[in-house]
Amino acid sequence: MTYFIPPYPKRHKKSLNPLKILQLARKDLLSIWGENAFRFQFIGIKIFNRSVFIANCPQVIKHVFITNHSNYERKSTQMRNALEPLLGDGLFISDGEKWKKHRDMMSPLFSSEQVAKYSEIMIQVTEEYVQKWGALDKDSTLDVLPEMGTLTAEIICRTLFGNQLGTQHAEEIVKNFAEYQSAIEQIDFTSFFGLPKLLPNLKHKTALKAAQKIHAIIDAIIAKGVTSDNKNTLLAQLLSKKDSETSDTYTTKEIRNELIVLFMAGHETTANTLAWAWYLISQSPDVEQKLHTEVDTILSTNKVHFDDFSKLTYTRAIFDETLRLYPPVPVLSREVKNDDTIRNRHIPAGSIMLVVPWLLHRHERLWDKPNHFIPERFLPDAKIKPEKFTYIPFSAGPRVCIAQFFGTVEATLCLAILAKNFRLTLPAGTKVTHDCRLTLRPKDKLSMQLTPR
Ligand code: HEM
Repeated sequence: MTYFIPPYPKRHKKSLNPLKILQLARKDLLSIWGENAFRFQFIGIKIFNRSVFIANCPQVIKHVFITNHSNYERKSTQMRNALEPLLGDGLFISDGEKWKKHRDMMSPLFSSEQVAKYSEIMIQVTEEYVQKWGALDKDSTLDVLPEMGTLTAEIICRTLFGNQLGTQHAEEIVKNFAEYQSAIEQIDFTSFFGLPKLLPNLKHKTALKAAQKIHAIIDAIIAKGVTSDNKNTLLAQLLSKKDSETSDTYTTKEIRNELIVLFMAGHETTANTLAWAWYLISQSPDVEQKLHTEVDTILSTNKVHFDDFSKLTYTRAIFDETLRLYPPVPVLSREVKNDDTIRNRHIPAGSIMLVVPWLLHRHERLWDKPNHFIPERFLPDAKIKPEKFTYIPFSAGPRVCIAQFFGTVEATLCLAILAKNFRLTLPAGTKVTHDCRLTLRPKDKLSMQLTPR
């Protein structure tokens, strides 16, 4: 088999000075790394007055995310400031006792039994896309990134709010989210390094306006309470939940914050991964062949069902390998709470600890052929399994993505159902590159040709 090596940004021969790092990071967080970054284990740098450390090997990552996780739980002040107007003090940006309370409230909603129920929505929405794509002219061109974005937004909206409300509000929420995100990305991309804003708050008003619109839509949905339209939704479960200590139900604001977190964290990550997967498949004929053989066999007769997920091992391996090469959250940034010592180095309170899946997942000492697209390395019978804490697209430890299973089932089923019915090919000569700000996605929408199979 021949395996595809997707192009990646130039790696600098020598380390860059802090000013150059910030200049480049402003446009593209992937362009700042030197060749050494894919070999070192732990490094400390000073960016102006800030000590920034990068944990880049399993032992140190285990220390940060597991052994001493409470010391590395807090997102940077700048990141919290950027997201707080939209998310309030919900799960994503809180820490300490508040985070724990919210995590305990939300975790049962993402058990495997619950995900099995949500999978019906994933399948239904994807089958509607099969109808929609099937009605297009032969050899139509699709903008794959926005197409995957509306697919996953529709899935999360229906999971949260039910069929009717989901469809009605998906578009409006997506539009305002995009406005909010583009505004904060321009203001606050330096938040990863814990640095103050370099740009004035020109876009702040746009962000606040978008946040207010999203709040109004969601508050109106919550105010309607549980109805026959939404009785099986995540919203209905949240409305009926009680605080384990006080037995009080949660306030509208608490519920709203969590719903927005789920929407924000839950649709773009999966959409980006699906878009990258289509690109990688289109450049890898052998992988595409194996994918087709699997989906034609497993999804051959009956209606697609949750049980098919565990049989779709090759499709799942494509998803896992896509997440390795293109982790949607390529940099995880934490503010250090108390002084610590790692590898005999003093880590002062207030410094920034980065864990960078982009580096770790392509580390030359941890992976064989780190830049090749090889789904086989994630098959259940693979001879060499990725070592623990070398593969962390969903983060790790207590703050691991709450919906890791949801996202994996969703992407695997969506990819399988669509690949059963269509091929997506990249027009000859198209150059695919990335856009990396808060998340890592294909640049310029990724136009591909759709062909029914
Ligand atoms: C391919 C799919 C996904 C990837 C790669 C992904 C990745 C991640 C990562 C890396 C984090 C940790 C962020 C940090 O610590 O700064 C995270 C947290 C989170 N994710 Fe996901 N995610 C995915 C899908 C989803 C979905 C579908 C949902 C919701 C339905 C979701 C909800 C959340 C929430 C609520 C958190 C915060 C958890 C906490 O702080 O306790 N994610 N995700």
